[in-house]
Amino acid sequence: MSQRSLWGSKVGFLLAAIGSAVGLGNIWRFGYMAYENGGGAFLVPYVVALLLAGIPLMILEYTLGHREKAAPPLAFARIDRRWETIGWWMPTIAFFGINLFYAAVIGWCMNYFCFSVNQAWGADTGDFFMNTFLQVSDSPFELGGIRWPILAGTVLTWVISWAICFREVNHGIEKASMIFMPLLVVLTLVLIGWALRLEGAWPAIKEHYLTARWDKINPFTASGSKVWVEAFGQIFFTLSLGFGIMIAYASYLPKKTDIVGNALITSVLNCLYSFLTGFAVFGTIGFMAASKGVPFAEAITSGPGLAFVVYPEAINQLPTGQTIFGMLFFLVLIMAGLSSAISLVEAFCCSLIDKFDFDRKKTVTWVCVLGCLGSVVFTTRAGLWILDIVDHFVNNYGLVTGGIFECLLVGWVLKAAIARKHVDQAGGVKLNKGWEILVKFVTPAILILVIGFALYSEFSENYGGYSTIALLVIGLGWLIAALIISFILMRYPWSGAKLGREHEPEEDHLLV
Ligand code: PFF
Repeated sequence: MSQRSLWGSKVGFLLAAIGSAVGLGNIWRFGYMAYENGGGAFLVPYVVALLLAGIPLMILEYTLGHREKAAPPLAFARIDRRWETIGWWMPTIAFFGINLFYAAVIGWCMNYFCFSVNQAWGADTGDFFMNTFLQVSDSPFELGGIRWPILAGTVLTWVISWAICFREVNHGIEKASMIFMPLLVVLTLVLIGWALRLEGAWPAIKEHYLTARWDKINPFTASGSKVWVEAFGQIFFTLSLGFGIMIAYASYLPKKTDIVGNALITSVLNCLYSFLTGFAVFGTIGFMAASKGVPFAEAITSGPGLAFVVYPEAINQLPTGQTIFGMLFFLVLIMAGLSSAISLVEAFCCSLIDKFDFDRKKTVTWVCVLGCLGSVVFTTRAGLWILDIVDHFVNNYGLVTGGIFECLLVGWVLKAAIARKHVDQAGGVKLNKGWEILVKFVTPAILILVIGFALYSEFSENYGGYSTIALLVIGLGWLIAALIISFILMRYPWSGAKLGREHEPEEDHLLV
């Protein structure tokens, strides 16, 4: 087995991990989630989800990857071979469920970056997005052919991901993150500053973003419980939890590492980024509503198209700097998206390399080719519908299920006390004993409740008004397909003595 490469520096690792967390989810997804789920009211369950699931699981994933020096399949198998299928489930469902549509959305952003030059979207941006750009079909089953400009952007996304992941993490992903992340911060701050100076921005932010409407988040009402489910799903998505990414990234950390400190920095900075970009999103909608003289709620269409309808429309209303503002916004999305997409390619490839001892360059090449082919379905005229269904199921069930199993594995099979001892021995901030209680009882219990609520609303009303058959075939079908693939990959025997503990440094042989 070849020597596992390591991150070149602590900052390099942190930038890569934050790069994975900060993505389209923080701007594109958070924007429409918060808007659809009661604006500011969404922040309350969001912060609760961060504290009760996000941070404890970030610590857990870092610990698992660092202790086992492996991506999820091997990490899980080392603790108990019977759990390996779940170890495959996480990167598989995330790669096939999320990365494929994610690349297509980055492809949309690339197109919109070009459209910004002359505001090619025209006056009716909603009509342009749905009918001219996506040319959406009537149902998820009516593929209606490929939209070539979207395919071009999607292929470019895969080529860039391939070029970055081709090299070892310290040369590829780390170097790319060192460039992407500082640039992203500067551009985002410019964007927020710009949005806040627009007329009508502040009143809208105060009223619709910073004011919590408590009635909207009562979990005992159908709509309130939906807000909580979405908030937990969003925390998993935004922190890249349940994907296997953070486990794989932590496997490249050196022996002495501040696991808790790194987990806190990653989680808090990521959520702060979302919170701050929320000012730009709500401020821009407010400006647009004010300049059109319509109420805030009527100013926009909701759903995944929000960023591609509202932003262009707001740009149209700007007195000056339309081109720069548009290019800036879509460049921010492209960079945030790419730094996340590469992390998932890495997690999936790292899982395959751990198991089959494949050559890294060949693995990355084949995975990117396969990913690119899989993304084609999201570049068809039904792409938006399929994306919406897959995203809903993978986030609310796939990632959360991964989170529950992680808690059970580390909390009960490995034992939370052993994991905590490992964190303390790795150095840095000591882990409070409360974490053991969270991981063993509180977090899994809450996540099971979240899945229960999700199922309840699933049965009370069809998600997004799609037909039952579409939800079953596409949503549930995707989850089942990932499970079957995971099972097949698990069946393959391990080579060498990988499952034994002889590769570990002595300090990892912990006794409680
Ligand atoms: N944390 C990322 C985001 O918020 O956009 C989630 C993600 C999506 C990571 C897709 C990786 C990926 F390929």
